[in-house]
Amino acid sequence: MPTNNHPHPSEVTPESIYMNRRSFIRRASVASIGGSLIAGGVWARHKNAPRVEGTSDDELTPWETVTGYNNFYEFGTGKGDPKENAQDFKTDPWSIEVSGEVSEKRTFSFEELVDGLTVEERIYRMRCVEGWSMVVPWNGFMLKDLIEHLGPTEDANYVEFTTLMDRTQMPGQNSPVLPWPYVEALRLDEAMHPLTIMVTGVYGKKLPPQNGAPIRMIVPWKYGFKGAKSIVKIRFTKRQPRTTWNEAIPREYGFYANVNPEVDHPRWSQASERRLGEFFRRDSLMFNGYDEVAPLYEGMDLSRNY
Ligand code: MTE
Repeated sequence: MPTNNHPHPSEVTPESIYMNRRSFIRRASVASIGGSLIAGGVWARHKNAPRVEGTSDDELTPWETVTGYNNFYEFGTGKGDPKENAQDFKTDPWSIEVSGEVSEKRTFSFEELVDGLTVEERIYRMRCVEGWSMVVPWNGFMLKDLIEHLGPTEDANYVEFTTLMDRTQMPGQNSPVLPWPYVEALRLDEAMHPLTIMVTGVYGKKLPPQNGAPIRMIVPWKYGFKGAKSIVKIRFTKRQPRTTWNEAIPREYGFYANVNPEVDHPRWSQASERRLGEFFRRDSLMFNGYDEVAPLYEGMDLSRNY
């Protein structure tokens, strides 16, 4: 698997940001591609004109479905369990430990970590490995902006995200259904892609606990399991980290998990999907339709790197 064809962050980060690490928390990030700034409830402006990154003809999945049909095994394995079981989940105060191959190695409060980062609205197509999909108006900031502030070292090739481990609050962690805590990771160039966002809200509102409050990851060209929820650790690594689903069932869930209609899951086809709320299935698209990420995988055999 080639890991040497992606840019090192020093190639994509202005020198001044590296030199001025100390003041990053105060720094407002530059405006981002294709996103509109949200402040409070600007969501309403877009209500009648849904705009999906890359297309314009997708209807939004209703709030009730986005926040009521969830995968969050820490709160149960049924799609309705997270909404029911996560309501008292405590997300304030929240802290995030940053470690590994990075210059800003310390624990941040949630507020410190997100301060100065531009929160915008991104309407993304989401595709679950189980064959259903949604269109969701997430609110968040580019992971790239955060990574530039944190300053990975020359040896950082991957970034790993770990969900909270708390058996008292997360009853699902008492069951061996997955190895806990939930861990996901990206290659650094995937994490630096402007489509990769850290999400703190949905539909212009604070992220509900069942969707991964207070902060989760979204990588829209990958199957949904890559989007780790309720993140408490961000670690930069030289080698490819172990990830939860890959560790649990390696034959079925790879590290890359790019949406790919040509590579079937061993137990079912990935060629089509059912958009929640629609009756007919629709064809699934390579990279979930986000063609701009294709250069990240140039030269890779995607049937082997599934
Ligand atoms: N993160 C944690 N910590 N635990 C989980 O069980 N499920 C993943 C992902 N992130 C999961 C998780 C899966 S399989 C999917 S499809 C998405 O979250 C679902 O996100 P949503 O409920 O916000 O749609």
